[in-house]
Amino acid sequence: MIQVDLSNIRSFVPEDWFTSRQGRLEQARAMLEAGNGPGGDFTGWVHLPRDYDREEFARIQKAAKKIQSDSQALVVIGIGGSYLGARAVVELLKSPNYNLKQKNTPDIFFAGNGLSTDALLETIELVKDRDFSVNVISKSGTTTEPAVAFRIFKNLLEEKYGKDEARKRIYATTDAHKGALKGLADAEGYEEFVVPDAVGGRFSVLTAVGLLPIAVAGIDLEALMDGAAQAMEALAVPGAENPAWQYAAARHALYTAGKSTEILVGYEPSFRFFAEWWKQLYGESEGKEHKGLFPASVEFTADLHSMGQYIQQGQRLMFESVVRFQESLGSYTIPNDPENVDGLNFLSGKPLSFVAEQALRGTLLAHVDGGVPNVVIQALRRDERTVGELIYFFEYACGLSGYLLEVNPFDQPGVEAYKKNMYALLGKPGYEAQKAELEARLNG
Ligand code: PA5
Repeated sequence: MIQVDLSNIRSFVPEDWFTSRQGRLEQARAMLEAGNGPGGDFTGWVHLPRDYDREEFARIQKAAKKIQSDSQALVVIGIGGSYLGARAVVELLKSPNYNLKQKNTPDIFFAGNGLSTDALLETIELVKDRDFSVNVISKSGTTTEPAVAFRIFKNLLEEKYGKDEARKRIYATTDAHKGALKGLADAEGYEEFVVPDAVGGRFSVLTAVGLLPIAVAGIDLEALMDGAAQAMEALAVPGAENPAWQYAAARHALYTAGKSTEILVGYEPSFRFFAEWWKQLYGESEGKEHKGLFPASVEFTADLHSMGQYIQQGQRLMFESVVRFQESLGSYTIPNDPENVDGLNFLSGKPLSFVAEQALRGTLLAHVDGGVPNVVIQALRRDERTVGELIYFFEYACGLSGYLLEVNPFDQPGVEAYKKNMYALLGKPGYEAQKAELEARLNG
């Protein structure tokens, strides 16, 4: 199970930092388990690893097999919570270079997660002459970025295969009952998967939202869900030994002690999109009512040579949460050089992982000495079970942490503001008055 080492925050927080929060953690735990706290209608993810829909799970695996057999590429269309989880898991468990590798599973391209014309043209170029399928994912079914991308890739598929074959290559993951995408999927007869009502976008990676693309990449879904289920059982047990309680309490204590930024630190390049997923999870859950830690991320050791300067000596506004995988998947021994021209023979015969471990330990002490508290989150290795555990650990700790902060961790009212302005400026029917007002302000 995930372990949290808090020995390097002690000098930054009062002695009773944990005991003084234990009562509130117990309340938060009870609210999460019963789904009766603020935003309780969106706590369907809490028992998901136990209660997920087995019939749909089997359909996801079957669809993944079909895509693997008839497609060289899968275009996954979605944004935010309908995008980051799948990419995080595919990159962490396979590789950021997944598409470049020799493999018997399709390449995966992500689209509809922005409005860049150049990125869109590039993806079209990469798939148009290959056999491909599309998984369009949108809970609301009305988000502009994926809706526009879907229109484009749907046309591309229809031109390439004709309408009948195209519809067999489109998989829609959306609300069970409502939304434009649901209507379109019903009308066209696409295979449909459901984003459960009680699960918000950023908590949806272990639903069809994440699971279909993850399965297409050849990742073992059962093991991923098993890992999450184990974490679910372990983290439901109240008490000071609970790692989610420890992490949530530490974040809150450091926030109360004046820290405003949490930097998630990874030492694996494959961890980059997991950190992006984590940023959305915590940023969107806690950043409201003018409260919340700003979630940032770095990749060490690369960023020690860039952001490391600021972290060591810039404004003292941050703490670090370091995710450490205890085991590498492979090993590499540093060779001996009889000439020792580079003076590195003191490392000859040592595994590269030994060097990485000393970099981690040395950095930790340097940053703590520089006034940056460090939380260390220990995970076993980059395998399905551990990643399932890690996902659930961060989700559960996020729920606890949001309740400690006294916000509703499961809504995102702030995301609506930009959407409304964009709809108005684009001339969406019903937004005429706002359009005139916004244009006047912009033209000034
Ligand atoms: O977590 C969230 O609620 C958001 O990030 C959404 O996932 C994102 O805005 C995409 O929404 P939708 O799935 O409705 O297209």
